[in-house]
Amino acid sequence: MRTLKLAPSIMTADFTRLGDQVLEAVAAGVDRIHLDVMDGHFVPNISFGPLVPQALRSLCPLPLEAHLMISEADKYLEPFFEAGVDSVILHIEVCPQIENTIKRVRNLKKKVGVTLNPTTPLSSIEQLIPNVDLLLIMSVQPGFGGQSFLPGSIDKIKQARQLIDKLNPRCELEVDGGINLQTISQAYHAGAEVFVVGSSVFNSKASVADNVRQLTESVHAR
Ligand code: DX5
Ligand code: ZN
Repeated sequence: MRTLKLAPSIMTADFTRLGDQVLEAVAAGVDRIHLDVMDGHFVPNISFGPLVPQALRSLCPLPLEAHLMISEADKYLEPFFEAGVDSVILHIEVCPQIENTIKRVRNLKKKVGVTLNPTTPLSSIEQLIPNVDLLLIMSVQPGFGGQSFLPGSIDKIKQARQLIDKLNPRCELEVDGGINLQTISQAYHAGAEVFVVGSSVFNSKASVADNVRQLTESVHAR
């Protein structure tokens, strides 16, 4: 059985008590914290900059991964790493020199992932797989939490799993968007191993711990 790792996205967390929410996720046994960085240009929403990882770094013992949904990712690598981020996930659509950006992250001795929008073909990132630590499949159009999982993502996850197994088995396969009790199991059995979970973990229906437990159990129940 492949390991199942959860990466809660703080987008739908209660920002009036963000630190507590992150600590609840840590206590629930998640693997890392997913930070959705949005600039209102690449995506039609604005979220936060290095200030948030900087605030969370001292209280969060887990890796912080920054999902950079921003037009000029190159300009912000150092500020995010200096704020305490452990890895960045780069969108192929806005990194024209992505090979150079990956090299820059490597020179900073940090981890790097690549990601692509639902409509961007996997072929656009295939040649990058040997050089990255993570491939993130977007299963929603980036910009907002709480959207529905795009069913076509399952085939993309299966294809991505085959590419990784062939080109770089060390590379993690992560999926992001609309992951919940109805979708996590099919995404896992399609080959994903890391799951960004926003509104299915941070919501008013149940505690973070209960949501995390139910998501984990729903995969292993099948
Ligand atoms: C969307 C973000 C996702 C999103 C996940 O642009 O990249 O990480 O916040 O939230 P849910 O799990 O609610 O789809
Ligand atoms: Zn994300």
